[in-house]
Amino acid sequence: MKSYKRTTITSALPYANGPVHIGHLAGVYVPADIYARYLRLKNEEVLFIGGSDEHGVPITIKAKKEGVSPQDIVDRYHGIIKKSFEDFGITFDIYSRTTSKTHRELASEIFRTIDQKGGFIQQSSEQYFDETAQQFLADRYITGKCPHCGNENAYGDQCEACGTSLSPTDLIHPKSAISGSVPVMRETRHWYLPLDQHEAWLRRWILEDHKEWKPNVYGQCKSWLDMGLQPRAVSRDLDWGIPVPAENAEGKVLYVWFDAPIGYISNTKELLPDSWEKWWKEEDTRLIHFIGKDNIVFHCIVFPAMLKAEGSYILPENVPANEFLNLEGDKISTSRNWAVWLHEYLEEFPGKQDVLRYVLTANAPETKDNDFTWKDFQARNNNELVAIYGNFVNRALVLTQKYYDGVVPACGELTDYDLRTLEEFKHVKTDVEKLLDNYRFRDAQKEAMNLARIGNKYLADTEPWKLAKTDMTRVATIMHLSLQIAANLAIAFEPFLPFSSEKLRKMLNLNTFSWNDLGKTDLLPAGAKLGAPELLFDKIEDQVIDAQIQKLMDTKKANEVATWKPAEIKPAVSFDDFLKTDIRVGTVLDCVKVPKSDKLLQFRIADGINERTILSGIAAYYPDPSALIGTQVCFIANFEPRKLRGIFSEGMILSAEDADGKLVLIQPSATVTNGVEVK
Ligand code: MF3
Ligand code: ZN
Repeated sequence: MKSYKRTTITSALPYANGPVHIGHLAGVYVPADIYARYLRLKNEEVLFIGGSDEHGVPITIKAKKEGVSPQDIVDRYHGIIKKSFEDFGITFDIYSRTTSKTHRELASEIFRTIDQKGGFIQQSSEQYFDETAQQFLADRYITGKCPHCGNENAYGDQCEACGTSLSPTDLIHPKSAISGSVPVMRETRHWYLPLDQHEAWLRRWILEDHKEWKPNVYGQCKSWLDMGLQPRAVSRDLDWGIPVPAENAEGKVLYVWFDAPIGYISNTKELLPDSWEKWWKEEDTRLIHFIGKDNIVFHCIVFPAMLKAEGSYILPENVPANEFLNLEGDKISTSRNWAVWLHEYLEEFPGKQDVLRYVLTANAPETKDNDFTWKDFQARNNNELVAIYGNFVNRALVLTQKYYDGVVPACGELTDYDLRTLEEFKHVKTDVEKLLDNYRFRDAQKEAMNLARIGNKYLADTEPWKLAKTDMTRVATIMHLSLQIAANLAIAFEPFLPFSSEKLRKMLNLNTFSWNDLGKTDLLPAGAKLGAPELLFDKIEDQVIDAQIQKLMDTKKANEVATWKPAEIKPAVSFDDFLKTDIRVGTVLDCVKVPKSDKLLQFRIADGINERTILSGIAAYYPDPSALIGTQVCFIANFEPRKLRGIFSEGMILSAEDADGKLVLIQPSATVTNGVEVK
């Protein structure tokens, strides 16, 4: 690694068109915050920049839908997002927004500089224009039929039914989402960043000089570069954004992906109006971008090309992008409300920020997509945070309270076993460090947890509670060392679980701590008074988790109902053909659950001629089968008998399947004679 004096850490600016969820936290903000806290603990010069991305078409669509202005939308969500980050202890030095004055000015200035240096080309192209609304249409504002799957409501950039990316001209029967009219092609002129002209140095810079980048990042860059780079438009015909600062640019704004990354710089400038440049222009500053995988091309190729074209900025040293986090096996989706929203989590798990931080890091999608499940969340809390970390700290503090009135006892002579234990955690500093330096946060956290494991094992093996009857000098040494391990835990976990570290720091009366103290065994001197022991974590019960799972199930149901459509009508049949199916009414004489089956009910039906047994897969919807006795049902009398679970089923009982999959019996609206036909 080349030597550096300071580090500028950025984390992707989230779009201010919705709240943030666990996917954002896991992929970007928790790792960035861990890294920032780690460097601060090491007393390095570090700046951690955040902010909201407040331009772009989706924000204007949301505003239109709600009948408010785009500014109203971003004001609302900027506030909610900023608060969520504060609540979760994400320690931005500044969290500002791309609608700020500083940002508008700097983004314009950078555009102008590149323009003056001849860094853009201008090109004309034909784009869809809405003659009723008198405006060009962003890809998202055009809907039509997907050429791949036939979905009638595909967008000009993507079909959400089949996932294919589209361009507006792919759509069959395009329609303007603004006026509903059929758009026409019209010529428009835009500014382009000629990425093809940057390809050579980008290849060298990434593929040769940054082989150490994470394989997922390097691989994506390589495939972009190998496909060959094309000029990219950096302006749009839109009325929401930063006006293009050039002649003949009426009605044009900077493309959101041009202005947003500049937000990192303008937010720095807003925070440090006099000294911001050293964080962005000096060679001994290290720039690190934390992002999700969908942002890789912008941060590794487009933004660096912009900065290079401008000429006075440094380029990122690393871009540790993560893959995606799924939720209970499905892709997180804002529109389907398939997410755990941070503000909702905190309402339901108040004070448990660290638990979520821990689980998201333990399951971080560092090398591949990963899954968040509530069961895993509970298990990690109960079996790791409570049973290992919390349990060790609690035992160390409670025993010290009990035997030494909460005062750190003096360390006596060390046994071989003590020495071996000390040896085991002496490495923790270098081990965790090496992992953090390589952006391997989940393994680093695991290593920190290992320290608590060592502590637990030490107490379990030395059993001070037994020795307390015979050898208090020995107990003093054991407690002394245990407390040193606890102090080490407070430091090691600070980047990961800051709230718990702070709590523990207070319990130990540790005044300050720094990363350099990690691994030391004299952090708490004999005679120091400890604070009152409190539990660091508590157990999460099954019903709490079940309620969260139920909530997601309800969401899934609601989505199924919302997207349900009647099946296509089958080909016509004649009356004679219809009559071939012999549908009749009968009375239920008996109805019981089939043993060992979740689905099947066994009916005994009076069919007017005789009695027959019919099995029906509706058990889940009729929890009290005996309530059906005496009611009438419709059944197919000439259905070929089938054996199910060893029972002969002679017919089929008719029911309707509702949009959510629920089955409802078809029953006559008045009692009729058993055996009559349905036609
Ligand atoms: N808003 C973008 C997203 O959520 C990220 C922007 S990152 C920045 O995908 F660099 F442009 F700021
Ligand atoms: Zn499709």
